[in-house]
Amino acid sequence: MTVKNIVLAGTPSLRQASQPVDAQWFGTHDAKTLIHDLFDTMKARLGVGLAAPQIGVNLRVFIYGFEKAHERYPDQKPVPLTIMINPKIVAASAEKEYLYEGCLSVPDVRGLVPRHDWVEVQAQHENGQYFQKRYEGFEARIIQHEFAHIEGKLFCDYMDDMRTLGITSALRESGIIK
Ligand code: NI
Repeated sequence: MTVKNIVLAGTPSLRQASQPVDAQWFGTHDAKTLIHDLFDTMKARLGVGLAAPQIGVNLRVFIYGFEKAHERYPDQKPVPLTIMINPKIVAASAEKEYLYEGCLSVPDVRGLVPRHDWVEVQAQHENGQYFQKRYEGFEARIIQHEFAHIEGKLFCDYMDDMRTLGITSALRESGIIK
């Protein structure tokens, strides 16, 4: 069990695009360690997703998911635990949906972020096998958020009204988020 420190906004590496992993990487000790560290760290920090650059590894790998009602996002239904390696968003809805979003790298802050209603993703499993699937709702939002991390972007880059940016506790006290 290794809980890593979260790389915080302001650290230059978080703003760099991450590198794809190559075919030889799959199944290695490094690969297994990275994926374990991501899950251990996501769970310990109560995240719903975590990208490798957030624990200081600039590779195109992220994980997400939660099995029970989540205390940071109590309105959302569970999302299956998923690993995405070298993901590509191959299609996306024209329609966008707005929801308050946060990020472990931008602690205690939320803002209203428009995201595609659905995205279709091609990626690789932990064993290197390719898959392609369409995702919608909160899962599609998490995927877009984590995908942005491997491009060196943060949720605030996608906001179109910075006035909605707030401190989580104040947004809760104001009844704007749960
Ligand atoms: Ni994030």
